[in-house]
Amino acid sequence: MIVCSCNVLSDQDVRKAVAAEQRPRTAGQVYGCLGCSPQCGRCAQTIRQIMDEALDAAGAACNGRASDRRA
Ligand code: FES
Repeated sequence: MIVCSCNVLSDQDVRKAVAAEQRPRTAGQVYGCLGCSPQCGRCAQTIRQIMDEALDAAGAACNGRASDRRA
């Protein structure tokens, strides 16, 4: 799903950026990791939400909670 129409970024693009070695911690850093910059800014809150979800999932996996969900 496209989450940033100005830069044509998908939710998968954002998830990949969050998992990348650079580990962006702000929406602005995500744009940078993906080789673009914010234009209108309407997507910033959505990008932040996707980042939070991805980081929560990564944290759950680190704490073993992901395996608890499968049980
Ligand atoms: S929709 Fe992302 S900068 Fe405009």
